[in-house]
Amino acid sequence: MKREDQKKAAAEAALEFIEWDMVIGVGTGSTADYFIDSLVKVKNKLDGAVASSVNTAERLKRHNIPVLELTDTGDLPLYVDGADEATRHLHLIKGGGGALTREKIVAAASEKFICIADESKLVDVLGTFPLPIEVIPMARSFIGRQLVKLGGQPELRASFTTDNGNLIIDVHNLSIINPVELEESLDHIAGVVTNGIFARRSADVLLLGTESGVEEITVS
Ligand code: A5P
Repeated sequence: MKREDQKKAAAEAALEFIEWDMVIGVGTGSTADYFIDSLVKVKNKLDGAVASSVNTAERLKRHNIPVLELTDTGDLPLYVDGADEATRHLHLIKGGGGALTREKIVAAASEKFICIADESKLVDVLGTFPLPIEVIPMARSFIGRQLVKLGGQPELRASFTTDNGNLIIDVHNLSIINPVELEESLDHIAGVVTNGIFARRSADVLLLGTESGVEEITVS
């Protein structure tokens, strides 16, 4: 299966987790887009969806799926989203599309987090993909210096503003041996809004599209 077919297959497999009358959280990116497109098949089951970005909200609306606000729904039973990297421990790097803050909020507010990805995303150790960090604009140089001290090479994402009006720093060359610890220390740098390590609230299930079908990975 080609990469795009693997993404589609993983997205379709996530439909199995949808039950009647659910309001679900929906992620951002090309794999999440395939999921939104396949949601059309089961949209009668849904009461609505909470979007993790403006792009996702627009795509859901184009499919006539009601978009609700997290402030109105309370916690959600299910969140489905892609990832830039994933380990077999279900730790992730996210934020390649810049939607990491809203993604982390919706993931935190959801009982079950299903990650959908093609097999190129599976890694042994996180960090080959540059780690996205959303920062308050006035803190960008200060944060950049702290990231250098941690051994990373920060690069401001060019011509990009998040849905929250902030900037993204992509950090190269971080070998993330202890994702839970690094996620926590990065959050403690003043001016950091969110970092793209999803380890404290990792995924619950990884649906990985592979050459031979969709592999369902969980951590027991
Ligand atoms: C968006 O900010 C990201 O977290 C995406 O979930 C991630 O970049 C995966 O995107 P693709 O499905 O396009 O690879």
